[in-house]
Amino acid sequence: MRTPVFDLLDQLVDSCQDNRDGQVAQYIPELADADPEKLALALCTPDGRVYTSGDAEHEFTMQSISKPFTYALALRDRGLDRVLQSVDVEPSGNAFNEISLDSRGRAKNPMINIGAITTYALAGDDDMTAGDRLEHVLDGLSQFAGRELSVAEDVYQSELSTGWRNLALAALMKGNDLLVGEPQDAMHGYTRACAINVDARDVAVMGMTLATGGVNPLTKKRVIPQWVARQVLSVMTTCGMYDSAGDWLSRVGIPAKSGVSGGVLGALPGQVGIGAFSPRLDRFGNSVRGVKIYERLSHQLGLHIM
Ligand code: DON
Repeated sequence: MRTPVFDLLDQLVDSCQDNRDGQVAQYIPELADADPEKLALALCTPDGRVYTSGDAEHEFTMQSISKPFTYALALRDRGLDRVLQSVDVEPSGNAFNEISLDSRGRAKNPMINIGAITTYALAGDDDMTAGDRLEHVLDGLSQFAGRELSVAEDVYQSELSTGWRNLALAALMKGNDLLVGEPQDAMHGYTRACAINVDARDVAVMGMTLATGGVNPLTKKRVIPQWVARQVLSVMTTCGMYDSAGDWLSRVGIPAKSGVSGGVLGALPGQVGIGAFSPRLDRFGNSVRGVKIYERLSHQLGLHIM
């Protein structure tokens, strides 16, 4: 049944369609081929109703949207103290691929590459092989989505062939004695998590799973404890939109995480999970139309947390 929510989403998508600012990510060869015209918006409510508009079934790779979820798995599997030994929770003030370390050699936060590579390696336990960990993370992220997710092998291979900087970040953390296992395994696994396929609908459901405090609204299964959801949402709020996190929080006011393929995940505690997608990015690496559509959505529905 068409409801006013669908009409609102259609209006929001229409209002952003003509914006052609920004550029599709070029540094991962396979991502450069993305169709720049795609635009999607999806909302998921606490009781599992999903509303979509635009290209909501178009699949794209998660990229950095995977980071809050691998962080959640690391926290659930190892506990907060162990994760904090390797990865802090402070905004870095630098680009997502920078060497952002604190005075103890820890990664500044889990939403930038150096921190996400480190938290990836903390998912699961020490008895796991690298292959087990890949499965564990794919399975964990699938539980957030409420369906079996898969990896875009072409994007994974494409990023592996250009991922020297991420390998260097993994090696640096190993040199600081703060990385579990081998740098190569952490970099490969992190890259594979970034290459998991989702659509805007999945992102909305995953966001709602964080926003319920850890229970998937579709399957009704608990994926993570409440304290983990709170920790993840807190770090998304301060670090999720990189160097524009302050601007984002004051304008939009929704805990969020962006990825270079053009996805934007939003999770408003107790209220709504949001997925937006559009490939052209601004200078911070955030989707231009994704940011615009969130600004308008937040304004129209009064979603700002303050
Ligand atoms: O490691 C990378 O560079 C990519 N796999 C993910 C980066 C990303 O999505 C940053 N987001 N804006």
